Amino acid sequence: MSDDATVLVETRGRVGLITLNRPKALNALNKATMDELVAAVTAFDADPGIGAVVITGSERAFAAGADIKEMASQSYMDMYAADWFRHWEDLTRLRIPLVAAVSGYALGGGCELAMMCDLIIAADTARFGQPEISLGVLPGMGGTQRLTRAVGKALAMDMILTGRQIDAEEALRAGLVSRVVPADRVLEEALEAAGTIAATSKPVAMLAKEAVGTAFETGVTHGVQIERRLFHSAFATEDQKEGMAAFVEKRTPDFHHR
Ligand code: CAA
Repeated sequence: MSDDATVLVETRGRVGLITLNRPKALNALNKATMDELVAAVTAFDADPGIGAVVITGSERAFAAGADIKEMASQSYMDMYAADWFRHWEDLTRLRIPLVAAVSGYALGGGCELAMMCDLIIAADTARFGQPEISLGVLPGMGGTQRLTRAVGKALAMDMILTGRQIDAEEALRAGLVSRVVPADRVLEEALEAAGTIAATSKPVAMLAKEAVGTAFETGVTHGVQIERRLFHSAFATEDQKEGMAAFVEKRTPDFHHR
């Protein structure tokens, strides 16, 4: 890993830990960060020894948005021709569960990156917002879609049209985050949650992620049908046999992630 790596990549047992590493720019997400982050998660996704990933930032900022300095002078044609931000979608197509550990600012693309994760654990210092409107743009990394699905139209409109930031407690009430913990516990809590996920069967956790993700993207009738098919496919794994046998035999399951 080079000294100027935009992300730091480590493992903690079966958990991959990725730390955004542009603290002086409040982890503004430039193209290099996008490429390195997607590459790191792609490698963890393919690694049978890793069952979940934690993405975190610094104490002051998870990420304060896409890199405004990189975008400021771009024309419409530049953005369109490069299909700017498209590569972020590759992150959302990966199947390994992702946990965001958010302290401080999660603004613009930072909030959108957190929402690309499967669960968000927030420090009590976290602040979420989509301030793009004040820059003369709108969210471009999925915020208008994922925020609206997560918190509903009223709060999403409020945040996206006025740029109002919400704190961790409001984010918890709105259903944007799953847990709020003191700032000095947030990484530990996220690693524990990811560790719990990683101790389950990786293929079955991937199926479950896909099934819940489907609820986000489709209508209920079609979603329930897909869920049922994914549930059926869990019965093609050895881990389903082991998990159910262990329950019947009153012992801890020994998953082999296949
Ligand atoms: N892009 C580039 N640089 C950024 C940045 C960003 N999104 N956010 C912060 N920085 C840089 C600042 O320019 C500053 O750099 P210098 O030291 O070189 O001047 C450094 O990080 C520290 O920031 P501040 O001095 O501004 O720190 P602060 O504590 O006074 O303010 C803040 C913190 C309120 C978060 C403020 O930095 C801010 O408003 N940042 C921009 C937030 C924003 O608008 N995000 C949306 C970006 S657009 C987007 O994300 C589009 C999309 O949908 C994907």
